[in-house]
Amino acid sequence: MALIAIYDSGVGGLSVYLNVVHRCPEHDYVFLSDNHAFPYGDKPEHELLKRAQAVVRRLDQCFSPDVLIVACNTASTVVLPHLREEFDFHVIGVVPAVKPAAQLSRTKKIGLLATPATIDRPYTDELINEFAIDCQVTKVGSSALVMLAEDKLYGRPLDESILGTILKPIIDQPDIDVVVLACTHFPLLKGEIASELKRCKRQISLVDSGEAIANRLFSLGQIYTLPFTNRASRLAIVTDPSVDAQFSAQLQRMGFDKLQHLAIE
Ligand code: DGL
Repeated sequence: MALIAIYDSGVGGLSVYLNVVHRCPEHDYVFLSDNHAFPYGDKPEHELLKRAQAVVRRLDQCFSPDVLIVACNTASTVVLPHLREEFDFHVIGVVPAVKPAAQLSRTKKIGLLATPATIDRPYTDELINEFAIDCQVTKVGSSALVMLAEDKLYGRPLDESILGTILKPIIDQPDIDVVVLACTHFPLLKGEIASELKRCKRQISLVDSGEAIANRLFSLGQIYTLPFTNRASRLAIVTDPSVDAQFSAQLQRMGFDKLQHLAIE
């Protein structure tokens, strides 16, 4: 049993948490939502790197995790090499599931849904060039979809009517048969996205990276003897304490026994 820290700008990391906790229930988990600096999807790279380093330093000071999962595509496309250089623990990042999507697609036309920052990153283009060079990729960057996932987890009214507009570039391409959910917030809206696509009479598979991360953590546990820990088993942390009771209840339903505030300088 080890202490696994999962870090995202907001609630997206919970989609990753649900996958990893299902696959590796024996570990202790600390989930940190950097809601004070949310969203990451419109931050320039240097600002994002500075923030991520500050967050992870604090996580290290307070919890000395054995493994850190950067459960955020937007951050992973920038910060992973820096974090791996600075810290001794294992750092697992999220890579948009371009490779499995390209393998799954019969039409070789795929959609990529992500934050505007992830869409613009050279990292994403390199991934497409490496694994989906034979595919036509329709890229859609949306911060509104990130907000919709936040609304859902915070129990706020969901304006699903915006889904049609957000997904239009994909719906307008008749041959797209696979869409990559390249932001960890989006699997939390898988049902809503699938319903909208169905309403538009489109049969499209949605793929994300949650299971791959869970498999990665599982295999790490087999290669290394991850140490025994004796700490709180499921702890959620927010960097801005102004969260409502609905969100706390949601965290409880997901198995978190405690919710704490941690200030990041
Ligand atoms: N959940 C994040 C991702 O996977 C980013 C959301 C945001 O802060 O904009 O990209």
